[in-house]
Amino acid sequence: MQRAASEVEVNTDPDGRMELIATGEKPGHGAAVDFRRVTLRGISASPLVRACGAKGALLDATAGLGGDAFILAASGFAVTAIERSPLVAAVLRDGLARACAEPRTAAIAQRIELHERDAGAFIAASRQVWAAIYLDPMYPVKSASALASKSIRLVRCAVGDDLDSAVLFRAAAESTCGRIIVKRPHHSQTLWPDPDLVFESKLARYDVYLRQGKSLRAPAQKEET
Ligand SMILES: C[S@@+](CC[C@H](N)C(=O)[O-])C[C@H]1O[C@@H](n2cnc3c(N)ncnc32)[C@H](O)[C@@H]1O
Repeated sequence: MQRAASEVEVNTDPDGRMELIATGEKPGHGAAVDFRRVTLRGISASPLVRACGAKGALLDATAGLGGDAFILAASGFAVTAIERSPLVAAVLRDGLARACAEPRTAAIAQRIELHERDAGAFIAASRQVWAAIYLDPMYPVKSASALASKSIRLVRCAVGDDLDSAVLFRAAAESTCGRIIVKRPHHSQTLWPDPDLVFESKLARYDVYLRQGKSLRAPAQKEET
């Protein structure tokens, strides 16, 4: 069993899957990764996939429990998924291993390469040319819905708020990539000014920054400090 400083831990559920679970909660009531449940019909037309553009090598810098990484892999991207929380990464690794052993999901799961580390450091050390870098940091608490799914609430307990997401954006902006996509709550401020494209889904907004031959201007308040 692995335990976070807060009130979540990683345990095994009655089906033998690793799950992120509130300390003291009954086994089976946490969040496990099960890609067999993901609906793949119509994903090519989804705002997430359209926002990520032409297929190629995609870096999911904030993998979490891998839901978006799986959809992007299923739509044809070769996904490198980065997660810095050891608890969250352990649950995702377990889900990917089971998906690799399952005929319906194996080909997709094999297109996802998971690394447990900080994505900013990973990007800085990588020479890869990325078609796209996708960022989905934890939403600011103010806009976190009281109706947020159980898995998101458990991930938040494990990782807290991603207060350094502008630093991560800057690392992405300094890499060689075709575009950066940032998932944000509807009506929230952009993480970085002036997205070139915006895609809206029922639950979120995808701000797209096209990179070809262009450097991204830092937000005004950051230039002053
Ligand atoms: C909102 S969740 C991502 C959800 C994910 N898109 C999904 O579909 O499940 C944000 C995750 O990003 C991770 N994260 C945030 N900043 C990171 C960084 N700099 N490096 C690696 N992981 C990071 C957090 O630990 C957290 O698990």
